[in-house]
Amino acid sequence: MVDDAPFLILGGELHNSSGSDLGYMEKNVWPGLRRLGGNCYLTPVYWECMEPEPEKYDFTLVDGVIEQARREGVRLILLWFGLWKNGNSSYVPAWIKTNPDYFYMHGIDGKMIESVSPFCEEAVDLDQRAFCRLMEHLRIMDEERTVIMVQVENEVGIWMNPRDYGSRANELFYREIPEEMAELYGASGTWEEAFGVNACEYFMSWGLSRAVGRIAEKGKESYNLPLFMNCVAMGLPLRAGQLPSGGPLPRVHKIWRKFAPTIDLYGPDIYSPFYKEVSSDFASANALMVPELSQDKNSASKALFTVAAYNTICFSPFGIDGLMTPLSENDLLAQMNTDLNVPQPCSGELLAEAYRILRMMWPDICKAQEEGRIYAFLQQNEPGAEFILDDYIINVTYGDGGMRGFMGQAGHRKEDAPIGGGFIIRQDTSRFLVCGLSCNVQVNPKYAEQAQVFVLDKREIRCTEEGLVPGRILNGDE
Ligand code: DGJ
Repeated sequence: MVDDAPFLILGGELHNSSGSDLGYMEKNVWPGLRRLGGNCYLTPVYWECMEPEPEKYDFTLVDGVIEQARREGVRLILLWFGLWKNGNSSYVPAWIKTNPDYFYMHGIDGKMIESVSPFCEEAVDLDQRAFCRLMEHLRIMDEERTVIMVQVENEVGIWMNPRDYGSRANELFYREIPEEMAELYGASGTWEEAFGVNACEYFMSWGLSRAVGRIAEKGKESYNLPLFMNCVAMGLPLRAGQLPSGGPLPRVHKIWRKFAPTIDLYGPDIYSPFYKEVSSDFASANALMVPELSQDKNSASKALFTVAAYNTICFSPFGIDGLMTPLSENDLLAQMNTDLNVPQPCSGELLAEAYRILRMMWPDICKAQEEGRIYAFLQQNEPGAEFILDDYIINVTYGDGGMRGFMGQAGHRKEDAPIGGGFIIRQDTSRFLVCGLSCNVQVNPKYAEQAQVFVLDKREIRCTEEGLVPGRILNGDE
């Protein structure tokens, strides 16, 4: 709820460095976002910029980006890049980095990792103090509530190692488990005795959730905004050591909820091909919020699917400011950057259209969800999807035929087509509203030998400023 009304966040997360230069934001970010037409964007607050010297705070960037967002008529979600950003401590102020009193995690090989240990209470205290100042500042300067949520830290967890092997961590790991963990799981003994194969992951979840819990609690006391955390989520059967250990995956939410109770929500960052598995895992753990996913030609299909399948509260591809960049600049970026964050042509336009449709159809989607009349689909490896209803079977097959209706004759070659994705709303027993791309939908009889289905009327529906209006009669090739 925002301003006492339901609010579906259709936006995106900015590249990590965009918000560190207000001039860059004006020139390179807002023009593209205007064309995208999202309603809320996720952007970092950098601890090193906000507290360049101990207790000397500088809110220039925070205030500047909030003012820009107000002018653009959009909301913001701020990402606190404090002690941990992707498990590392790259954004902590220099005066902490150069002070050896604040100790770092160690890997199993004994080497130090560029990540402050969650067991370093003194460092956690400093982060808590800074985060608290940020929240106080927002409470005072943001009466309009341009900022609607805050993410505490970013993708916490230790990479490539099952746990922290520093001396303080070792000392704690070989002790009896703390009483609260014993009560939570009805277990006893050392971490290994109590939790066996899960010992390292539970230990790191405990350490990190206590640290983040302390930071979040004070911040929330200062200003009661919803707080959430993002999480590396691959949908693969991997354990701590192969995945960042201790991050808030659903399998350790019990620990996170106990030790960080002021965190309202945990959301997955989905860069894995197993989008459906990850989103369903998190949707059964709490309300689904997708703060990051790879932004590419498939973002639009995923947006349609995610809102229809899970009534997600947030859909936000990462690096969104790159999505609407003119093609020539994209080409340049693509040469320099081989990672996932370089979009393909037209991805931005597709996503803008998907957002427009979703915004307009959201009340219908919500009603259909309540009444169990909505069927969402997304292509991964399968050739299609099947939905068995009372009287019919709906068959969805994936391919780029559906593409034309969505984009006009955009001239995509078959191999450039996005994956199939979308939803079907049953309007009454024999009327269906289909919204999707790269898909073909057929309504077939449930019992083929007893009945046939012929189509009475097939209409295009267009999303206009006035609402959904009937378009062409699609009775031929189209
Ligand atoms: C996940 C992180 O949370 C983001 O800040 C960004 O680094 C992306 N990965 C890059 O793909």
